[in-house]
Amino acid sequence: MTDVLSYPIRRQEPGLLPPEYEALRERGIGRVRMPTGHLAWLVVNPDYARLVLSDPRFSANKLLPDFPRLSPRPMEKLKHCAPFLVNMDGREHALAKKPVVQELSPQRVAEARPRLQGAVDEIIDAVLGRPEKPVDLVQELSYPVAWRLQELLLGLPTAELVTMRQNIWDLVVTAGTEDEEVAAAARLHEHVADVLAEKEKHLGDDIVSHAIEQQLAEYGKVDRYELSSLVLALAFGVHHSVATMVSLGVLTLLTHTDERAVLLGQPDRMTVAVGEMLRYFSINDATPLRLALEDVRVGDTLIRAGDGVAVPTLPVNRDPAVCPFPNRLDLLRERPTSHLAFGYGPHRCVGAHLAPVLLGMVFTTLFERIPTLELAVAEAELEFKYHSQQSFGPSELPVTW
Ligand code: HEM
Repeated sequence: MTDVLSYPIRRQEPGLLPPEYEALRERGIGRVRMPTGHLAWLVVNPDYARLVLSDPRFSANKLLPDFPRLSPRPMEKLKHCAPFLVNMDGREHALAKKPVVQELSPQRVAEARPRLQGAVDEIIDAVLGRPEKPVDLVQELSYPVAWRLQELLLGLPTAELVTMRQNIWDLVVTAGTEDEEVAAAARLHEHVADVLAEKEKHLGDDIVSHAIEQQLAEYGKVDRYELSSLVLALAFGVHHSVATMVSLGVLTLLTHTDERAVLLGQPDRMTVAVGEMLRYFSINDATPLRLALEDVRVGDTLIRAGDGVAVPTLPVNRDPAVCPFPNRLDLLRERPTSHLAFGYGPHRCVGAHLAPVLLGMVFTTLFERIPTLELAVAEAELEFKYHSQQSFGPSELPVTW
Protein backbone atom coordinates (compact mmCIF):
# COMPACT_ATOMS: atom_id res chain seq x y z
CA MET A 1 0.00 0.00 0.00
CA THR A 2 2.81 2.41 0.86
CA ASP A 3 4.52 2.20 -2.55
CA VAL A 4 1.41 3.36 -4.43
CA LEU A 5 1.76 6.95 -5.62
CA SER A 6 -0.60 9.54 -4.17
CA TYR A 7 -2.63 11.46 -6.72
CA PRO A 8 -2.66 14.23 -7.84
CA ILE A 9 1.07 14.45 -8.39
CA ARG A 10 1.94 18.11 -8.00
CA ARG A 11 4.65 20.07 -9.80
CA GLN A 12 7.39 22.20 -8.28
CA GLU A 13 8.00 24.23 -11.45
CA PRO A 14 5.54 24.81 -14.31
CA GLY A 15 7.61 23.04 -16.96
CA LEU A 16 9.35 20.43 -14.83
CA LEU A 17 7.89 16.93 -15.17
CA PRO A 18 7.61 15.32 -11.72
CA PRO A 19 9.90 12.24 -11.73
CA GLU A 20 7.07 9.98 -10.47
CA TYR A 21 5.54 10.16 -13.93
CA GLU A 22 8.75 9.24 -15.71
CA ALA A 23 8.96 6.06 -13.62
CA LEU A 24 5.77 4.89 -15.38
CA ARG A 25 7.01 5.67 -18.88
CA GLU A 26 8.00 2.15 -19.91
CA ARG A 27 4.71 0.49 -18.99
CA GLY A 28 2.67 3.59 -19.82
CA ILE A 29 0.20 2.98 -17.02
CA GLY A 30 0.37 2.53 -13.25
CA ARG A 31 -1.56 2.64 -10.00
CA VAL A 32 -2.27 5.71 -7.87
CA ARG A 33 -4.23 6.38 -4.72
CA MET A 34 -6.84 9.12 -4.98
CA PRO A 35 -7.46 11.60 -2.11
CA THR A 36 -10.54 9.49 -1.27
CA GLY A 37 -8.24 6.51 -0.52
CA HIS A 38 -9.46 4.60 -3.58
CA LEU A 39 -7.01 3.15 -6.09
CA ALA A 40 -7.17 4.34 -9.69
CA TRP A 41 -5.15 3.89 -12.88
CA LEU A 42 -2.77 6.57 -14.10
CA VAL A 43 -2.14 6.69 -17.84
CA VAL A 44 0.97 8.39 -19.28
CA ASN A 45 1.22 6.70 -22.71
CA PRO A 46 -0.36 8.79 -25.53
CA ASP A 47 -1.97 5.79 -27.30
CA TYR A 48 -3.51 4.58 -24.06
CA ALA A 49 -4.61 8.15 -23.27
CA ARG A 50 -6.38 8.42 -26.65
CA LEU A 51 -8.09 5.08 -26.03
CA VAL A 52 -9.36 6.03 -22.57
CA LEU A 53 -10.49 9.48 -23.65
CA SER A 54 -12.34 8.35 -26.78
CA ASP A 55 -13.80 4.92 -25.92
CA PRO A 56 -17.45 5.05 -24.78
CA ARG A 57 -16.70 2.32 -22.23
CA PHE A 58 -15.13 5.12 -20.17
CA SER A 59 -17.51 7.65 -18.63
CA ALA A 60 -16.92 11.31 -17.74
CA ASN A 61 -19.94 11.43 -15.43
CA LYS A 62 -18.72 12.63 -12.04
CA LEU A 63 -22.11 11.93 -10.51
CA LEU A 64 -21.53 8.16 -10.75
CA PRO A 65 -20.66 6.89 -7.27
CA ASP A 66 -17.40 5.12 -8.30
CA PHE A 67 -16.09 8.07 -10.33
CA PRO A 68 -12.48 8.84 -9.24
CA ARG A 69 -12.56 12.03 -7.20
CA LEU A 70 -9.96 14.65 -6.32
CA SER A 71 -12.01 15.71 -3.33
CA PRO A 72 -13.16 13.43 -0.51
CA ARG A 73 -16.69 14.85 -0.90
CA PRO A 74 -19.08 12.99 -3.25
CA MET A 75 -20.13 14.84 -6.36
CA GLU A 76 -23.73 13.57 -6.40
CA LYS A 77 -24.59 17.08 -5.29
CA LEU A 78 -24.20 18.14 -8.91
CA LYS A 79 -27.59 16.50 -9.46
CA HIS A 80 -29.12 19.66 -7.98
CA CYS A 81 -27.69 21.64 -10.84
CA ALA A 82 -28.19 21.84 -14.65
CA PRO A 83 -25.78 19.32 -16.25
CA PHE A 84 -22.26 20.49 -17.04
CA LEU A 85 -20.87 19.49 -20.44
CA VAL A 86 -17.76 17.98 -18.85
CA ASN A 87 -19.90 15.46 -16.91
CA MET A 88 -22.10 14.22 -19.75
CA ASP A 89 -21.66 11.11 -21.86
CA GLY A 90 -22.74 9.78 -25.24
CA ARG A 91 -25.58 11.25 -27.24
CA GLU A 92 -26.69 13.68 -24.53
CA HIS A 93 -23.17 15.10 -24.47
CA ALA A 94 -22.86 15.25 -28.26
CA LEU A 95 -26.17 17.11 -28.60
CA ALA A 96 -25.31 19.62 -25.88
CA LYS A 97 -21.82 20.20 -27.25
CA LYS A 98 -22.70 20.71 -30.91
CA PRO A 99 -23.87 24.35 -30.68
CA VAL A 100 -20.86 25.31 -28.53
CA VAL A 101 -18.48 23.75 -31.05
CA GLN A 102 -20.22 25.61 -33.88
CA GLU A 103 -19.92 28.90 -32.00
CA LEU A 104 -16.17 28.36 -31.54
CA SER A 105 -15.40 27.00 -35.01
CA PRO A 106 -12.34 28.33 -36.87
CA GLN A 107 -14.63 30.53 -38.98
CA ARG A 108 -16.39 32.03 -35.95
CA VAL A 109 -13.06 32.61 -34.25
CA ALA A 110 -11.80 34.39 -37.39
CA GLU A 111 -14.92 36.59 -37.33
CA ALA A 112 -14.36 37.35 -33.64
CA ARG A 113 -10.74 38.39 -34.16
CA PRO A 114 -11.33 42.16 -34.43
CA ARG A 115 -13.35 42.16 -31.19
CA LEU A 116 -10.75 40.07 -29.42
CA GLN A 117 -8.00 42.36 -30.70
CA GLY A 118 -9.94 45.40 -29.48
CA ALA A 119 -10.22 43.86 -26.01
CA VAL A 120 -6.52 42.94 -25.91
CA ASP A 121 -5.57 46.47 -27.03
CA GLU A 122 -7.70 48.03 -24.29
CA ILE A 123 -6.14 45.84 -21.62
CA ILE A 124 -2.62 46.69 -22.83
CA ASP A 125 -3.59 50.41 -22.95
CA ALA A 126 -4.50 50.07 -19.29
CA VAL A 127 -1.15 48.38 -18.53
CA LEU A 128 0.66 51.23 -20.27
CA GLY A 129 -1.45 53.74 -18.38
CA ARG A 130 -0.52 52.41 -14.94
CA PRO A 131 0.98 55.30 -12.97
CA GLU A 132 3.60 53.18 -11.23
CA LYS A 133 5.98 50.39 -12.11
CA PRO A 134 6.55 47.51 -11.68
CA VAL A 135 3.21 46.26 -12.95
CA ASP A 136 2.02 42.76 -12.05
CA LEU A 137 0.94 41.20 -15.35
CA VAL A 138 -0.93 38.34 -13.66
CA GLN A 139 -3.42 40.89 -12.25
CA GLU A 140 -3.20 43.48 -15.00
CA LEU A 141 -3.01 41.32 -18.13
CA SER A 142 -3.64 37.58 -17.64
CA TYR A 143 -6.86 37.70 -15.60
CA PRO A 144 -8.34 40.72 -17.43
CA VAL A 145 -7.80 38.88 -20.74
CA ALA A 146 -9.46 35.75 -19.36
CA TRP A 147 -12.49 37.62 -17.98
CA ARG A 148 -12.91 39.77 -21.08
CA LEU A 149 -12.79 36.65 -23.23
CA GLN A 150 -15.68 35.10 -21.31
CA GLU A 151 -17.55 38.40 -21.32
CA LEU A 152 -17.21 38.66 -25.10
CA LEU A 153 -18.04 35.02 -25.79
CA LEU A 154 -21.09 34.83 -23.56
CA GLY A 155 -22.19 38.45 -23.81
CA LEU A 156 -22.53 38.61 -20.03
CA PRO A 157 -20.93 41.21 -17.72
CA THR A 158 -17.79 40.13 -15.85
CA ALA A 159 -19.43 40.98 -12.50
CA GLU A 160 -22.14 38.38 -13.17
CA LEU A 161 -19.57 35.83 -14.32
CA VAL A 162 -17.62 36.38 -11.10
CA THR A 163 -20.78 35.76 -9.04
CA MET A 164 -21.56 32.67 -11.11
CA ARG A 165 -18.10 31.29 -10.55
CA GLN A 166 -18.34 31.90 -6.82
CA ASN A 167 -21.72 30.14 -6.72
CA ILE A 168 -20.35 27.14 -8.63
CA TRP A 169 -17.39 27.02 -6.25
CA ASP A 170 -19.74 27.13 -3.24
CA LEU A 171 -21.68 24.19 -4.64
CA VAL A 172 -18.81 22.05 -5.90
CA VAL A 173 -16.20 22.74 -3.21
CA THR A 174 -17.66 24.39 -0.12
CA ALA A 175 -21.14 22.91 0.41
CA GLY A 176 -20.94 19.94 2.80
CA THR A 177 -24.41 19.02 4.07
CA GLU A 178 -27.39 18.13 1.88
CA ASP A 179 -29.12 21.38 2.97
CA GLU A 180 -26.08 23.45 2.03
CA GLU A 181 -25.90 21.69 -1.33
CA VAL A 182 -29.53 22.35 -2.13
CA ALA A 183 -29.19 25.99 -1.02
CA ALA A 184 -25.98 26.49 -3.05
CA ALA A 185 -27.56 24.95 -6.16
CA ALA A 186 -30.66 27.13 -5.75
CA ARG A 187 -28.48 30.25 -5.39
CA LEU A 188 -26.56 29.30 -8.51
CA HIS A 189 -29.71 28.69 -10.53
CA GLU A 190 -31.62 31.73 -9.37
CA HIS A 191 -28.68 33.91 -10.27
CA VAL A 192 -28.19 32.33 -13.72
CA ALA A 193 -31.95 32.62 -14.38
CA ASP A 194 -31.90 36.34 -13.41
CA VAL A 195 -28.89 36.97 -15.63
CA LEU A 196 -30.57 35.17 -18.54
CA ALA A 197 -33.85 37.07 -18.03
CA GLU A 198 -31.89 40.32 -18.27
CA LYS A 199 -29.99 39.05 -21.28
CA GLU A 200 -33.22 38.25 -23.16
CA LYS A 201 -33.91 42.00 -23.14
CA HIS A 202 -30.50 42.90 -24.61
CA LEU A 203 -29.54 40.41 -27.29
CA GLY A 204 -26.23 40.91 -29.07
CA ASP A 205 -23.68 39.01 -31.16
CA ASP A 206 -22.61 36.38 -28.64
CA ILE A 207 -23.11 32.72 -27.78
CA VAL A 208 -25.95 33.23 -25.29
CA SER A 209 -27.86 35.56 -27.62
CA HIS A 210 -27.48 33.12 -30.51
CA ALA A 211 -28.77 30.27 -28.33
CA ILE A 212 -31.77 32.36 -27.21
CA GLU A 213 -32.57 33.31 -30.83
CA GLN A 214 -32.28 29.67 -31.86
CA GLN A 215 -34.66 28.53 -29.11
CA LEU A 216 -37.18 31.22 -29.99
CA ALA A 217 -37.04 30.21 -33.64
CA GLU A 218 -37.37 26.49 -32.84
CA TYR A 219 -39.78 26.34 -29.88
CA GLY A 220 -41.21 29.84 -29.72
CA LYS A 221 -39.97 30.22 -26.13
CA VAL A 222 -36.79 30.30 -24.09
CA ASP A 223 -35.65 27.20 -22.16
CA ARG A 224 -33.58 28.70 -19.34
CA TYR A 225 -32.56 25.32 -17.94
CA GLU A 226 -30.90 24.33 -21.23
CA LEU A 227 -29.34 27.78 -21.49
CA SER A 228 -27.93 27.63 -17.98
CA SER A 229 -26.15 24.41 -18.91
CA LEU A 230 -24.54 26.23 -21.81
CA VAL A 231 -23.57 29.22 -19.68
CA LEU A 232 -22.12 27.04 -16.91
CA ALA A 233 -20.07 25.04 -19.41
CA LEU A 234 -18.26 28.20 -20.44
CA ALA A 235 -18.26 30.06 -17.14
CA PHE A 236 -16.28 27.58 -15.07
CA GLY A 237 -12.76 26.31 -15.56
CA VAL A 238 -12.02 28.54 -18.53
CA HIS A 239 -10.53 31.63 -16.99
CA HIS A 240 -7.80 30.02 -14.86
CA SER A 241 -6.60 27.99 -17.86
CA VAL A 242 -6.52 31.05 -20.09
CA ALA A 243 -4.98 33.33 -17.45
CA THR A 244 -2.28 30.80 -16.52
CA MET A 245 -1.33 30.22 -20.15
CA VAL A 246 -1.11 34.00 -20.74
CA SER A 247 1.20 34.34 -17.71
CA LEU A 248 3.38 31.36 -18.64
CA GLY A 249 3.60 32.43 -22.29
CA VAL A 250 4.59 36.00 -21.43
CA LEU A 251 7.19 34.72 -18.95
CA THR A 252 8.55 32.33 -21.57
CA LEU A 253 8.91 35.08 -24.16
CA LEU A 254 10.48 37.42 -21.60
CA THR A 255 13.15 34.83 -20.88
CA HIS A 256 13.71 33.59 -24.47
CA THR A 257 14.65 36.83 -26.18
CA ASP A 258 16.34 35.30 -29.25
CA GLU A 259 13.34 33.12 -30.04
CA ARG A 260 11.02 36.04 -29.36
CA ALA A 261 12.80 38.15 -31.97
CA VAL A 262 12.23 35.42 -34.57
CA LEU A 263 8.61 34.76 -33.62
CA LEU A 264 7.38 38.35 -33.56
CA GLY A 265 8.12 38.76 -37.25
CA GLN A 266 6.53 35.45 -38.30
CA PRO A 267 2.90 34.81 -37.28
CA ASP A 268 2.96 31.20 -38.55
CA ARG A 269 5.92 30.39 -36.36
CA MET A 270 4.25 32.13 -33.42
CA THR A 271 1.29 29.78 -33.90
CA VAL A 272 3.59 26.74 -33.71
CA ALA A 273 5.35 28.25 -30.68
CA VAL A 274 2.04 28.76 -28.86
CA GLY A 275 1.20 25.10 -29.54
CA GLU A 276 4.60 24.18 -28.14
CA MET A 277 3.95 26.19 -24.97
CA LEU A 278 0.56 24.49 -24.57
CA ARG A 279 2.21 21.09 -24.95
CA TYR A 280 5.18 21.80 -22.74
CA PHE A 281 3.23 23.33 -19.86
CA SER A 282 0.11 21.15 -20.25
CA ILE A 283 -1.39 23.19 -17.47
CA ASN A 284 -4.43 21.09 -16.55
CA ASP A 285 -3.02 19.09 -13.69
CA ALA A 286 -4.78 15.99 -12.39
CA THR A 287 -7.52 15.91 -15.04
CA PRO A 288 -9.05 14.47 -17.26
CA LEU A 289 -10.53 11.66 -15.15
CA ARG A 290 -12.74 8.78 -16.30
CA LEU A 291 -14.60 5.78 -14.90
CA ALA A 292 -14.49 2.38 -16.67
CA LEU A 293 -18.06 1.15 -17.27
CA GLU A 294 -16.88 -2.24 -18.58
CA ASP A 295 -13.67 -4.27 -18.47
CA VAL A 296 -11.25 -2.79 -21.00
CA ARG A 297 -7.75 -3.95 -21.92
CA VAL A 298 -5.27 -1.06 -22.16
CA GLY A 299 -1.90 -2.37 -23.33
CA ASP A 300 -1.13 -5.33 -21.08
CA THR A 301 -3.39 -4.04 -18.32
CA LEU A 302 -6.98 -5.09 -17.71
CA ILE A 303 -8.94 -2.14 -16.38
CA ARG A 304 -12.00 -3.48 -14.59
CA ALA A 305 -15.49 -2.02 -14.72
CA GLY A 306 -15.75 0.40 -11.79
CA ASP A 307 -12.05 1.38 -11.90
CA GLY A 308 -11.14 5.05 -12.09
CA VAL A 309 -8.57 6.32 -14.61
CA ALA A 310 -6.55 9.55 -14.53
CA VAL A 311 -5.07 10.89 -17.78
CA PRO A 312 -3.01 13.98 -16.81
CA THR A 313 -1.90 15.73 -19.98
CA LEU A 314 1.59 16.76 -18.75
CA PRO A 315 3.24 13.30 -18.68
CA VAL A 316 1.33 12.20 -21.79
CA ASN A 317 2.69 15.18 -23.70
CA ARG A 318 6.23 14.38 -22.56
CA ASP A 319 6.22 10.96 -24.21
CA PRO A 320 8.84 10.61 -26.98
CA ALA A 321 6.04 9.51 -29.34
CA VAL A 322 4.56 13.03 -29.18
CA CYS A 323 7.68 14.83 -30.45
CA PRO A 324 11.46 14.60 -30.45
CA PHE A 325 13.06 15.81 -27.19
CA PRO A 326 9.69 16.08 -25.43
CA ASN A 327 11.16 17.57 -22.23
CA ARG A 328 12.65 20.46 -24.14
CA LEU A 329 10.65 23.64 -24.74
CA ASP A 330 11.55 24.34 -28.36
CA LEU A 331 9.81 27.54 -29.41
CA LEU A 332 11.29 27.30 -32.90
CA ARG A 333 10.01 23.81 -33.69
CA GLU A 334 9.51 23.49 -37.44
CA ARG A 335 6.21 21.66 -37.22
CA PRO A 336 3.29 21.61 -34.78
CA THR A 337 3.14 18.57 -32.50
CA SER A 338 -0.04 16.54 -32.07
CA HIS A 339 -0.24 17.11 -28.33
CA LEU A 340 -3.13 16.35 -25.98
CA ALA A 341 -3.08 19.57 -23.94
CA PHE A 342 -6.72 20.14 -24.96
CA GLY A 343 -7.67 16.54 -24.22
CA TYR A 344 -8.88 14.12 -26.87
CA GLY A 345 -12.07 12.49 -28.11
CA PRO A 346 -15.62 13.65 -27.41
CA HIS A 347 -14.63 15.90 -24.51
CA ARG A 348 -11.80 17.64 -26.35
CA CYS A 349 -11.70 21.29 -25.36
CA VAL A 350 -14.17 23.50 -27.24
CA GLY A 351 -11.64 26.34 -26.96
CA ALA A 352 -8.91 24.35 -28.74
CA HIS A 353 -9.04 26.62 -31.76
CA LEU A 354 -9.81 29.87 -29.98
CA ALA A 355 -7.24 29.65 -27.17
CA PRO A 356 -4.12 29.50 -29.40
CA VAL A 357 -5.43 32.38 -31.55
CA LEU A 358 -6.03 34.49 -28.47
CA LEU A 359 -2.68 33.62 -26.89
CA GLY A 360 -0.75 34.42 -30.09
CA MET A 361 -2.62 37.73 -30.30
CA VAL A 362 -1.83 38.67 -26.68
CA PHE A 363 1.87 37.80 -26.98
CA THR A 364 2.36 39.55 -30.32
CA THR A 365 0.47 42.69 -29.31
CA LEU A 366 2.17 42.93 -25.92
CA PHE A 367 5.73 42.69 -27.23
CA GLU A 368 5.08 44.83 -30.29
CA ARG A 369 3.58 47.59 -28.20
CA ILE A 370 6.06 47.33 -25.33
CA PRO A 371 9.29 46.09 -26.94
CA THR A 372 11.40 46.97 -23.90
CA LEU A 373 9.25 44.89 -21.54
CA GLU A 374 11.34 43.01 -18.96
CA LEU A 375 11.00 41.26 -15.64
CA ALA A 376 11.33 43.65 -12.71
CA VAL A 377 12.81 40.90 -10.49
CA ALA A 378 15.30 38.11 -11.09
CA GLU A 379 13.60 35.10 -12.68
CA ALA A 380 14.74 32.94 -9.74
CA GLU A 381 12.71 35.15 -7.37
CA LEU A 382 9.39 34.44 -9.07
CA GLU A 383 6.93 32.38 -7.08
CA PHE A 384 4.41 29.95 -8.50
CA LYS A 385 1.16 28.54 -7.19
CA TYR A 386 -1.87 26.50 -8.15
CA HIS A 387 -4.58 28.88 -9.28
CA SER A 388 -7.86 27.58 -7.91
CA GLN A 389 -6.23 24.12 -7.31
CA GLN A 390 -6.22 23.76 -11.07
CA SER A 391 -3.36 25.24 -13.05
CA PHE A 392 0.19 25.97 -11.89
CA GLY A 393 1.51 29.38 -12.90
CA PRO A 394 3.24 32.51 -11.58
CA SER A 395 1.66 34.06 -8.47
CA GLU A 396 2.83 37.43 -9.75
CA LEU A 397 4.69 38.63 -12.83
CA PRO A 398 6.23 42.01 -11.98
CA VAL A 399 7.46 43.80 -15.11
CA THR A 400 8.84 47.13 -16.13
CA TRP A 401 9.80 48.82 -19.44
C1 HEM B 1 -6.01 28.02 -22.53
C2 HEM B 1 -5.91 26.83 -22.49
C3 HEM B 1 -6.90 25.72 -22.29
C4 HEM B 1 -6.55 24.45 -21.95
C5 HEM B 1 -5.13 23.93 -21.71
C6 HEM B 1 -7.76 23.66 -21.89
C7 HEM B 1 -7.79 22.30 -21.61
C8 HEM B 1 -8.90 21.49 -21.66
C9 HEM B 1 -8.92 20.05 -21.49
C10 HEM B 1 -7.68 19.18 -21.23
C11 HEM B 1 -10.21 19.63 -21.62
C12 HEM B 1 -10.71 18.19 -21.59
C13 HEM B 1 -11.36 17.78 -20.28
C14 HEM B 1 -11.78 16.32 -20.27
O1 HEM B 1 -11.54 15.56 -21.20
O2 HEM B 1 -12.36 15.89 -19.25
C15 HEM B 1 -11.03 20.81 -21.83
C16 HEM B 1 -12.40 20.81 -21.96
C17 HEM B 1 -13.16 21.95 -22.09
N1 HEM B 1 -12.70 23.24 -22.30
FE1 HEM B 1 -10.78 23.83 -22.32
N2 HEM B 1 -8.83 24.45 -22.17
C18 HEM B 1 -8.37 25.73 -22.44
C19 HEM B 1 -9.14 26.80 -22.84
C20 HEM B 1 -10.49 26.81 -22.98
C21 HEM B 1 -11.29 27.89 -23.49
C22 HEM B 1 -10.74 29.23 -24.00
C23 HEM B 1 -12.60 27.50 -23.44
C24 HEM B 1 -13.85 28.23 -23.85
C25 HEM B 1 -13.91 29.10 -24.76
C26 HEM B 1 -12.63 26.16 -22.90
C27 HEM B 1 -13.78 25.42 -22.67
C28 HEM B 1 -13.79 24.07 -22.41
C29 HEM B 1 -15.02 23.29 -22.26
C30 HEM B 1 -16.46 23.82 -22.31
C31 HEM B 1 -14.62 21.95 -22.07
C32 HEM B 1 -15.53 20.74 -21.86
C33 HEM B 1 -15.73 20.04 -23.18
C34 HEM B 1 -16.52 18.76 -23.04
O3 HEM B 1 -16.64 18.25 -21.93
O4 HEM B 1 -17.01 18.27 -24.06
N3 HEM B 1 -11.34 25.76 -22.64
N4 HEM B 1 -10.22 21.94 -21.86
